[in-house]
Amino acid sequence: MSERKGELALRLTGVYAGYGELNILENMDIEVPAQTSLAILGRNGVGKTTLMATMMGHATLHAGSIELFGKSIQNLPVYERSRLGIGYVPQTRDIFPSLTVEENMLIAARPGRWPLERVYELFPRLAERKSNMGNQLSGGEQQMLAVGRALICDPSLLLLDEPLEGLAPVIVQMLMDVIKKLIREENLTVILVEQSAKLALQVTDQVIVLNRGQVTYRGHSKDLLHDHEKLAQLISAN
Ligand SMILES: Nc1ncnc2c1ncn2[C@@H]1O[C@H](COP(=O)(O)OP(=O)(O)O)[C@@H](O)[C@H]1O
Ligand SMILES: [Mg+2]
Repeated sequence: MSERKGELALRLTGVYAGYGELNILENMDIEVPAQTSLAILGRNGVGKTTLMATMMGHATLHAGSIELFGKSIQNLPVYERSRLGIGYVPQTRDIFPSLTVEENMLIAARPGRWPLERVYELFPRLAERKSNMGNQLSGGEQQMLAVGRALICDPSLLLLDEPLEGLAPVIVQMLMDVIKKLIREENLTVILVEQSAKLALQVTDQVIVLNRGQVTYRGHSKDLLHDHEKLAQLISAN
């Protein structure tokens, strides 16, 4: 899958989606150019996770289209979307509790830019814990493992759903540094859902804000980061 700068990594056009017959997302148009990053903000329950689940194929698409690097993917099953280059770090992390750290990663591994050694370089803590079971890990270690497991599939587009949720400040800082590195140095295309608007806006290029399943704001992360009034209005009013 090609991924030159300037191309669109992901395009959603007129997307309506939800769970079974229940519709949550309305008329979403989203474009993410390759090697850029998008923050998705909005309070609890507005549809951020549903949006990511729709991109990945875990939710039900009712109308509209989804393209990955120009290829229509909306009718493909989850594993095909993964094979085509979408890496997904779900809000629930979904670590296998009775597999070791290393086994959790190796079942997902694909040859590419992120062999196990590079993931361990990115997260030395995972190397130290490689023989521990999934259920023996702290929340921060689980989150590192969830990110490592997505990277080891060699994604072209990485979806991160609230990766900082519930973590200690020192771990939040470390994960933010890693996310920044993936965006700025590895040129990975990243979509980041995050409750902390400031953290998300600091590392991303573009931002959308959702309210009740709709996009209510879109712009440059930098602009919104510095427009305190607008940010407060969007986040508190929504
Ligand atoms: N599996 C599901 N089945 C039915 N409704 C769901 C399901 N998951 C989430 N919802 C509903 O979809 C809406 C959006 O939820 P969600 O996408 O999780 O929001 P967010 O991630 O922004 O907090 C909420 O009203 C939530 O109750
Ligand atoms: Mg969510």
